[in-house]
Parts: sequence; structure tokens; C-alpha cells
Amino acid sequence: MRKPLIVANWKMNHGITQTADFIRSTQATQLPTEREVVICPPFTSLFVFKNGGLNYGAQDMHWEEKGAFTGEVSPAMLKELGCSYVIIGHSERRQYFAETTETVQKKVAAALAHQLTPIICVSELDQVQGLEITPTMVVAYEPLWAIGTGKTATPEQAQAMHADIRKLVGEDVRIIYGGSVNDQTATALMAQPDVDGLLVGGASLDIKTFLGIINY
Ligand code: PGA
Repeated sequence: MRKPLIVANWKMNHGITQTADFIRSTQATQLPTEREVVICPPFTSLFVFKNGGLNYGAQDMHWEEKGAFTGEVSPAMLKELGCSYVIIGHSERRQYFAETTETVQKKVAAALAHQLTPIICVSELDQVQGLEITPTMVVAYEPLWAIGTGKTATPEQAQAMHADIRKLVGEDVRIIYGGSVNDQTATALMAQPDVDGLLVGGASLDIKTFLGIINY
């Protein structure tokens, strides 16, 4: 059974004050237990999640354990902070920060070595083909034209691509959809047999909207 997985990608939004407010709001409500919810805030807000009752992860990391890599954060540091997930190879990192298939591969291996579940973002099938995907990983399909544009893939479009990815990764790997998901589109997307979850950017910043998505 692939447990539904809803991941919030806050990108470069929400400092510690807004993060604390968000966590307080989630504590005031009953989250569904049959679904997994993960928040990926900026690095600076990760510590606020400690003992907050939510699963959390980072939006990126370096593959090295430690060393002279100014500005970088290591997998061991994320683990020590209590992270259980890490987003790897988001299209914004590929586009603006020179992330390549090779760096994605190194980061995925480093994440697994530290018991962090990598959420590997892909926008095309060949980005999946370059990787050996196992059930300890999550694949996030995000069409470039849908990210931050307000244009969500139709449930049929998402299902077609997820089915193609499924052929490559097998029945046990969770494949989640991302790209302008909101509380209006979540239900129909999640009704698709190969859509196992959602990666939500903009619509995850507002607690009411995000709760609407979690409770699709
Ligand atoms: P969006 O972002 O929901 O704002 O389109 C999704 C993502 O980039 O992960």
C-alpha cells in the first residue's frame, strides 16, 4: 500500500515567526492519520519544527558529510535537526543553481546513507531513467509549465505521466504530482490511481488552503 503523501514546499518563504504561527495552527486541528504530511521550510525555519508534531524536511542539501563548502548544509546536519525527508533536484535548483543529473545522483545516495527519504523532482521521463529508484525514495513529477503558473495539469495528464513513470519505478514507489496544486484541484488529482500524493508550493503557505488540500 502506498500511503498518500502531501508535501509542502515553502521555497524561500516563511521566517521563524510565520513558521511558529503555522505550526500552532496545525496543532489546533486534527490532521488525518491515514495520510502523511511533510513540511519543507527554508533551512532557517527547520529547528522550529522540533517537537512540533509534524514531519519535516529540507528543500535541498549538499552530498558531502562536512567540509569547506561555504553556504552549504550537510545530510548529517539535517538528520540531527530531525528531518525525515529532503527534496532533491527541484526544477528551480536545476534552472537557477546548476543542479544536474550527476549532482542529483550524489545527493540521493547521500540522503539514503543518512536515512533521509529523498523526494526526487523530475519534469521529464529521462530524468527518471538516469536514476535507480527504489521504494525508499519518492518521485515528484512536476511539469515545468505548471510550476507557479496557476496552470495545473489535468488529472488525466497527471495520470498519463505517472503511469509512464510507474513502468520505470515499479508498484511500491510513491509518485507525487506538483505544479499549481490547490484546494480546488487536489481531490481530482488524488483520485487518479498512480497519483500517490502532492507537492504543493504556493498553496501550502496559507494554513487554511493547505488544510483544505490535506483533507482533500
Ligand atoms: P507551485 O510549486 O505549487 O507553487 O506551483 C510547486 C513546486 O514547485 O514544488
